[in-house]
Amino acid sequence: MPKRIIIADGIYLKFSGDEPICSCDGTHPKTRPGTLDPPANFRVKDETVNEDKVRHIMAQVRSFPGMPATAARLMPMLQNPDASAAQIEDVLKYDPGLTANILKLTNSAYFGLPSRVSSIRQAIMLLGWKRLLQLVMTMCMSAQMTKPLPGYGLSRGELWRHSVAVSVAADVLVKSLSIPDADEVFTAALLHDIGKLVLGEYVQEDLREIEQMVGKGISFEVAEFVVLGTNHAQIGALILQNWSLPQELVNAVSRHHDPDQCGHACRLSDVVHVADILGWMTGYGRGRNGQPVEPAFEVTERLGIGDGQMEKLAEKTRQEVTRLSGILT
Ligand SMILES: [Fe+2]
Ligand SMILES: [Fe+2]
Repeated sequence: MPKRIIIADGIYLKFSGDEPICSCDGTHPKTRPGTLDPPANFRVKDETVNEDKVRHIMAQVRSFPGMPATAARLMPMLQNPDASAAQIEDVLKYDPGLTANILKLTNSAYFGLPSRVSSIRQAIMLLGWKRLLQLVMTMCMSAQMTKPLPGYGLSRGELWRHSVAVSVAADVLVKSLSIPDADEVFTAALLHDIGKLVLGEYVQEDLREIEQMVGKGISFEVAEFVVLGTNHAQIGALILQNWSLPQELVNAVSRHHDPDQCGHACRLSDVVHVADILGWMTGYGRGRNGQPVEPAFEVTERLGIGDGQMEKLAEKTRQEVTRLSGILT
């Protein structure tokens, strides 16, 4: 009968009750302290995961609201190089509230435009239509993402502020590191924690158990996974899959705490992983993830982030987020 072999640090054994068949001491020269996330199909101990609960969570994912209607009509245009300003205007003219918010955001200090913008067409000319669509997505999601999530230690509006800060951080990374082909990174960063909207109530129910694990040195995301049988990254990816968003974007959300699972397409998930940490460093939406965190070593190597550069990137992110303060309150 085939045996399942888990390679893990000692802390897993405390929870699994498994007997180690061997242990490895010694440290590889590149080893750095950090947390280890389990692979997607990892189960600590079958009986610790309540299958009913997982089924219940999956039902919640299926009934999660679809993408906001205007965003759903505009998203396919992100994939279409022939989309025109007129088509975008056509969709937005039926949503005057959204149009007003987009113009307010376009005129914010963040974009530093030389003159005041008073129409969507003008905004497209000055920002480009891809950027404009990202703004539409941002404004569309704001209503859903402001609800309080006490299980995650997030008060009303905090998930939204964190999501915007991470999107800004992703932009800062793309510009500072000259990362090519990163059009979708803003949307991936904005939606990376959307799974918390579904999992929040389950985390709250099992908070004591999760916090006990966190108290023993396990990261919040791993404890969430061990107790609930899934985590907000996986749930977020399922929501985005249901919304028919591009697979690369879905993968980036699913791996934002587990970037080593990215295989050969790592760029987007690497950027979201680092941007998430920069978002925490700016102080937005840290919630229960209060411990200092560093990006995974492989990710900093792949992106070419040097020693001491994270602080500089965080400072730049902080400045940019401050310029957006109008929409963060
Ligand atoms: Fe997350
Ligand atoms: Fe996050």
